[in-house]
Amino acid sequence: MPDSDFLPGLEALAFKTRFDLHLRDCVEGMRTLADDSVDLVVTSPPYNLGINYADYDDNLSSQAYLEWSRVWAAEVRRVLKPEGSFFLNVGSAPANPWMPHELAMQLRDLFTLQNTIHWIKSITVEPRDGSAISVGHFKPINSKRFLNDCHEFVFHFTKSGKVPVDRLAVGVPYADKSNITRWGHTEGRDKRCRGNNWFIPYQTIKSRSKDRPHPATFPVELARKCIALHGGETAEMTMLEPFLGIGHAAVAAGEAGIGTFIGYEIDEVYFHEARTRLSLTGAD
Ligand SMILES: C[S@@+](CC[C@H](N)C(=O)[O-])C[C@H]1O[C@@H](n2cnc3c(N)ncnc32)[C@H](O)[C@@H]1O
Repeated sequence: MPDSDFLPGLEALAFKTRFDLHLRDCVEGMRTLADDSVDLVVTSPPYNLGINYADYDDNLSSQAYLEWSRVWAAEVRRVLKPEGSFFLNVGSAPANPWMPHELAMQLRDLFTLQNTIHWIKSITVEPRDGSAISVGHFKPINSKRFLNDCHEFVFHFTKSGKVPVDRLAVGVPYADKSNITRWGHTEGRDKRCRGNNWFIPYQTIKSRSKDRPHPATFPVELARKCIALHGGETAEMTMLEPFLGIGHAAVAAGEAGIGTFIGYEIDEVYFHEARTRLSLTGAD
């Protein structure tokens, strides 16, 4: 499995997935989709943190942002199948720490919050020998008040809160192998649930404009894990990313053999970059 978020070798991307990508507002686009037609949504909307997108104004009032979020999320609810999963990645700024929680609360009557996953970008582990190992990256802030923010949320919403997931598809080996026989539920397998802290570092890049020409992407690996956790027969599934960006969810969908992937993006530059990453050509 490739571990890079860079533009992959195009020859490697011989995906069977049908990519249905549109340079279009996602609300307008989703309104053309049938009710209960999507199995899986993996997305990160703009966070309203003043990010310098090429087209989109990421500086709405909090109220306008939350109202708009409800509009697009209501469309997600309408198109999502009853057993579907909606993974919503959202981060915050130290000066605006409530926003991810306010957004989740705003969607409270549309979805059940089934899991809260913490996407850890950087962490320091201190084994008991007195050493400290730091891994991952973050953009350092210069502040007398705030710690550096090294994580974002991934809210796993479902319609019922009772959707089965494939925990072992994103599982990890037991550190202490005696636990394999100790616990009956392992059925002899060396796999356990990894929990809800997912350490997924950004890849080190040399040039943002060449390697990751977008100010706010999630790693392909984050989408890979969401797809695996949702589980199921990927070839029969339809996956949606309302805020396509440069297409990292689309790359993960192609790798996983998702049957149909639908994506919307309003910015022409990001949209064409996504198509390039998927090595798609021709009319939109
Ligand atoms: C946080 S980024 C998503 C990045 C994407 N997940 C990736 O990894 O490449 C949000 C994206 O939403 C796009 N966007 C903003 N408003 C939109 C709308 N109404 N419909 C579709 N896309 C929109 C922005 O241009 C931006 O590329």
